[in-house]
Amino acid sequence: MVGLEVDPVRVAAAAPAADPPGLTFARGGFELAGLRPALVRAFNVLRQYDESEVADAWRTMTSALAPGGLLVEGTCDELGRLGGWLLIDADGPRSLTLAAKLTTLDRPAELAERLPKALIHRNVPGEPVHDLIRALDDAWRAARRRTPRSAPGSAGWRAVTALREAGWPILDRPAAGAWAN
Ligand SMILES: C[S@@+](CC[C@H](N)C(=O)[O-])C[C@H]1O[C@@H](n2cnc3c(N)ncnc32)[C@H](O)[C@@H]1O
Repeated sequence: MVGLEVDPVRVAAAAPAADPPGLTFARGGFELAGLRPALVRAFNVLRQYDESEVADAWRTMTSALAPGGLLVEGTCDELGRLGGWLLIDADGPRSLTLAAKLTTLDRPAELAERLPKALIHRNVPGEPVHDLIRALDDAWRAARRRTPRSAPGSAGWRAVTALREAGWPILDRPAAGAWAN
């Protein structure tokens, strides 16, 4: 695993902390420093850029990947309790993941401020991501009314199931057969 960073001061500060063995740090940007990785995680980086720079950054990173490689690009909060990321391959974005620690989540709309750069400015009426966040928020509120406060995970899955039943293309599931519950 290689941690790439454009700022040499930050690379130098990180190097002594390389732990466990197999983790190194190097100076590099979206061109990936000549490496050909199978997987790139680029979090909280594009948020500092202009939205107009996103597509080029994705292209630069995905063209440096090994064949079949993937880019995971997104944003999270400092504690990792809220996050949003896109899975991107050479053909472009494949999926959006919204992640939250449900025990501290008040409502899914909190995820809006952690959307990937390509979406964060699009959380406005008329945009699909705005419809998604609103639908998730409504479904979560309805699920919370039907579940004990002590079971936010259950409410979360109820909300996601409701979205899936309403036709949203939800890709994953908690475990085989769980959607039937
Ligand atoms: C907010 S920090 C994110 C730290 C970490 N990636 C994380 O997971 O939260 C953003 C870092 O990205 C670096 N950065 C900005 N543009 C970059 C680029 N093109 N390639 C690599 N690092 C970049 C900045 O120097 C800064 O250290």
